[in-house]
Amino acid sequence: MKKIILPILLTGAIYAQNAENNVTVKLPPKVFKGITAIKMLGKELKKNLKAKLQEDKSGLKAINFCANDASKISAEVAKNFPKGVSVRRVAVKYRNNANKPDKIDAKVLKEFQEKLNNKTLQKKPKVVDVNGTTRVYVPILVTNVCLKCHGQNINPKIKEVIKKHYPNDKAIGFKTGDLRGAMVAEVK
Ligand code: HEC
Repeated sequence: MKKIILPILLTGAIYAQNAENNVTVKLPPKVFKGITAIKMLGKELKKNLKAKLQEDKSGLKAINFCANDASKISAEVAKNFPKGVSVRRVAVKYRNNANKPDKIDAKVLKEFQEKLNNKTLQKKPKVVDVNGTTRVYVPILVTNVCLKCHGQNINPKIKEVIKKHYPNDKAIGFKTGDLRGAMVAEVK
């Protein structure tokens, strides 16, 4: 898989470098803004999840925290996004109804899934223009840590909390390496 490196040069110019064939291309500013916002949110969510899992390995503390505070954290991080940028998470099998994909999301998720199936999925974002708003999609893959709350053998106590907060939860039964969903930045 080709690695995309995003060095921010001292001049403030922004480049994406394809490490494999050494081509340097300038990223459109809207795409860069979107990727930046996605990284900010991803980092914050991961940091909090990790901290809660360290406090309590069963994941019970973490699931309560995710259910009660994930949206609060997202709102807090969003205050620091560049102007005109918002980020959502979407998934075919979603847990929170608010993360249900719209038509365009669904199309991109399908494309990511097809690419994962034929082993051509890259971490590279997919960019779509929707009536002048730039959407930047980055795939989210399942790793071992995710299985506690999205896997096939979930602790019954965790299941209970999930059922209570998300009676229509679809986000279980995943395996490591599966496509869990995508982060979508919308840049005006
Ligand atoms: C401690 C339990 C827990 C763990 C571990 C966990 N999640 Fe979640 N996840 C949740 C909960 C709860 C929600 C719903 C949050 C909300 O209401 O916004 C959620 C929502 C999501 C969503 C948003 C889409 C949806 O289904 O609503 C994605 C994407 C996601 N998780 C990916 C991951 C990934 C990737 C990992 C591993 C790095 C992971 N999760 C680990 C509990 C967990």
